[in-house]
Amino acid sequence: MAERLQKVMANAGVASRRASEKMILDGRVRVNGKVIKELGQKVDGNDVIEVDGHLIEREEKVYYLFYKPRGVISAAKDDKGRKVVTDYFTDYSERVYPVGRLDYDTSGLLLLTNDGELANRLMHPRYKVNKTYVAKVKGIVQNDELKQLRVGVRLKDGKKSARAKAKILSLDKKSDTSIVSLTIHEGRNHQVKNMLQAVGHPVKKLKRETYGFLTLAGLTSGQYRELTREEVKALYELGNK
Ligand code: URA
Repeated sequence: MAERLQKVMANAGVASRRASEKMILDGRVRVNGKVIKELGQKVDGNDVIEVDGHLIEREEKVYYLFYKPRGVISAAKDDKGRKVVTDYFTDYSERVYPVGRLDYDTSGLLLLTNDGELANRLMHPRYKVNKTYVAKVKGIVQNDELKQLRVGVRLKDGKKSARAKAKILSLDKKSDTSIVSLTIHEGRNHQVKNMLQAVGHPVKKLKRETYGFLTLAGLTSGQYRELTREEVKALYELGNK
């Protein structure tokens, strides 16, 4: 939808509508590279708007904490037509993207946002955001295997995993399964599954319970909530360390 340039500038938080009009009249605003000096100009979502040579941010930033169900792809679309996480956010005009990925068959905490800067920071290995997973695995996990997980195990790609926290939550001899909690800050493909496989315990079920200081409290599978301003600020700070 085309809207007046000064309105779009005001919505993007550049300045009030009045002040934006003055900026236009002063020749400080370009649309698609061309200086615009009249107030009648209309623009749509495809137009590139610059003020004093800086691109303006058109969309309001939104942040969601989603309890991803099993059987959903962590992407904005899927070639095979399977359900994707963004299918849960179709009522909003802002397009959101998942921050990192959870496997199709993994459930749990996934952040979605249109704030590319925050997403890139959080996904950057340098920031080492802790994530806690709970896995149901085949077999009875032994203490020495926990120790290996804690110091790092050699993965399929030949690289060693970083230090991790690992503990047994329960053991079930009858069904020959264990429930373990694993906290890691790396995010390599299938990392938790590969770590547990490396100590001889294939994963049967996996859930991500925490992401940094965030938890799934109050949500059931398929539900989401908006992050508070304080949480967004704290995530930025996580990414500053
Ligand atoms: N590790 C995995 O193996 N799978 C996930 O979905 C997330 C972490």
